[in-house]
Amino acid sequence: MSAEKRTLRVGMLGCGVVGSEVARLMIANQQDLAARSGAGLEIVKIGIRNLARAHAGIDPQLFTTDLESIVTDPSIDLVIEVMGGIEPARRLILTAMENGKAVVTANKALLAKHGAELFHASDEADVDFYYEAAVAGAIPILRPLAESLVGDRVQRVMGIINGTTNYILTKMYETGASFDSALKEAQSLGYAEADPTADIESFDAAAKAAILAGLAFHTQVTDEDVYREGITHITADDVWVAKEMGFVIKLLAIAEANETHGSEEETISVRVHPTMIPKTHPLASVREAFNAVFVQCESAGELMFYGRGAGGTPTASAILGDLVAVARNRIEGSLGPTETDYADLDIAPMGATKTRYLIRLEVADIPGVLAAVATTVANNGVSILTVRQDGRGLDAELTVLTHIATEAALSSTVSQLAELDSVKDVLSVIRVEGLNS
Ligand code: HSE
Repeated sequence: MSAEKRTLRVGMLGCGVVGSEVARLMIANQQDLAARSGAGLEIVKIGIRNLARAHAGIDPQLFTTDLESIVTDPSIDLVIEVMGGIEPARRLILTAMENGKAVVTANKALLAKHGAELFHASDEADVDFYYEAAVAGAIPILRPLAESLVGDRVQRVMGIINGTTNYILTKMYETGASFDSALKEAQSLGYAEADPTADIESFDAAAKAAILAGLAFHTQVTDEDVYREGITHITADDVWVAKEMGFVIKLLAIAEANETHGSEEETISVRVHPTMIPKTHPLASVREAFNAVFVQCESAGELMFYGRGAGGTPTASAILGDLVAVARNRIEGSLGPTETDYADLDIAPMGATKTRYLIRLEVADIPGVLAAVATTVANNGVSILTVRQDGRGLDAELTVLTHIATEAALSSTVSQLAELDSVKDVLSVIRVEGLNS
């Protein structure tokens, strides 16, 4: 490095699984990072809550419990936020920006709730705000949406963006395991937390879906705008039936532009729920804790981004990519792309969403059942694609796969089916994507 090259001073908020890897890699790869940034990158302060916690390989002098001192220190150029949670992360990031610091974060929950405020603050302060690590860990997906594909029109983003649930659903599919036993295995391997609610009830995926949808459709989207359903109700039987019919069940985050007719305003839908997709779909081959995001664009066509969506080192890779980018901008006196929400599209209510459905019914095996079910489905304007019957002694299981219908029509169909004398139970209703006809 030439003598005149600047050194940019970096402060970090948090030093957990991801932060400690960021610090380790910044120290280990110091020379390469400097050569690629055009400036030295020195980590000078790390804010943590508890000084007693050991952090192997990191100079103990760097640690402080005074997090405020990092975001107000005039000698610090760049701040990395990896502490997670809403507060004090939000307040510290805003203070860092007000104090002229570029910020890199991995905080999806914060972005999904307060993204607009943070983007506005970074614009006002003329500082960079990067967050590639917030969605799908190591996978570069936000930069492609914000930069490479920004000249195109995104039609749909469909992703497996939660590794824990993908691990659970993979085990259920490959071994026939129940949800509970697959969850226990995921916990014993460290994929699922002791309290797995954020993952299995899809809060994590909904936050990431909001971020993806905002970028893809140039519209403010918060986690509250995302329809969310977890995977806890998926049974081994659901997975078996799906498999028999040539499908896999995945937890998908789907953000799409809805078709418009005549003078209708364009809207988008954003949803996260268990979804059946054909075994031949590119997302069906994404196993275990891997993530993948499938993007459909008007001109580029279909693209898929695949990789590790969590873990200290993969997530640190995305953070360091952002760090080098903001360092380059700072050295050049420029800024990276800012958030655009100019399109300001309305988010359609879930009832207006159109997809296919698989309805599993336990029925009495008597004459006229099929006719009653078919009539009820038809009376709601829903068209049947296939029906399958499996015998179960005196009862039978009917599996109805519909053509595309609105969620509202489907809900009313299911309520009326449940009222039929011959229908003993509605075993499950699962949305189906990825069929072309
Ligand atoms: N718990 C998340 C997952 C990783 O399982 O993908 C962090 O977002």
